[in-house]
Amino acid sequence: MRRALSAMALAALLAAVAVVAGVQGTARAEARGVRLHHIALQRGPAFDPALVHAGGSGSQIVGGKPVPNGKYPFMAVLQVGVRGGGEALCGGTLIDPDSVLTAAHCVVDARSVTLAVGRTVITSRQGRVRRAVAAYVHPRYDGARDNRYDVAVLKLDRPVRGIKPIRLSTAAQNYLERPGRLLMVAGWGTTRENGSPSDRMRAAAVPVVSDAAAKRDYAHEGPQARFFPTLMVAAGRRGRDACQGDSGGPLFKAGRDPVEVGIVSYGIGCARAHYPGVYTEVNSPGIRSFIVRAAAR
Ligand code: ARG
Repeated sequence: MRRALSAMALAALLAAVAVVAGVQGTARAEARGVRLHHIALQRGPAFDPALVHAGGSGSQIVGGKPVPNGKYPFMAVLQVGVRGGGEALCGGTLIDPDSVLTAAHCVVDARSVTLAVGRTVITSRQGRVRRAVAAYVHPRYDGARDNRYDVAVLKLDRPVRGIKPIRLSTAAQNYLERPGRLLMVAGWGTTRENGSPSDRMRAAAVPVVSDAAAKRDYAHEGPQARFFPTLMVAAGRRGRDACQGDSGGPLFKAGRDPVEVGIVSYGIGCARAHYPGVYTEVNSPGIRSFIVRAAAR
């Protein structure tokens, strides 16, 4: 069975989350005595090109464009072996030679994660294949409650050399989140709601949406979908958005020195009017410090 994780599917995963947390426990961070939720990962199946069987519809409701080979080399495609069976597709980014940043909801019920960095086409042999040996999930993430702190760091079995990691947005880079500014989102997720994943990476330029508008847009969707302005960034418009399978991938400033501003987290459907994509805010202090600490493990 192959599937993409969706915010909607999260509820179904809650029991599994509890099991993972209970069995694996937490590990202690040296600094500041903060606990990092540590998940030991098993050796999973080899990277399986069949993770994607392209639908071939050619549809592109997400509004993105195919990415040429070798562009955005910091991108990672994740094959998540899910507890209880099946494989899920997620995105991620190389943030240092042996750390990949992704979404918590991608890995909370993972038993294994196989990934490729620097690969544009999933069924190709481009880039480097690695296995994640551990996942650190933000200790305040609780998918049973809402989507706050949807962030995790994967530690790789071997470092990736020769690929420049993406940089994390800093507090001084809040200007990158000004409403209307165009940022890129990239991934292998479905090209429309309920569509198929894409074998070739796609990327779309999406406008940042103001916190006030996003809060309003998601106010009536229940506590699970609530938008928290200090912890989340919204971006997208009708016809341009991330979609299922893009989770964990970056919202970023492209260019010669790429900077990651957000992590694909959730939405209501994809690319619908008044439901911008919601991203974990990388430069929110409690999120950025977690990422840096976990990556240093
Ligand atoms: N949760 C989805 C995933 O696991 C990503 C959803 C993003 N949705 C959106 N409309 N931006 O892949």
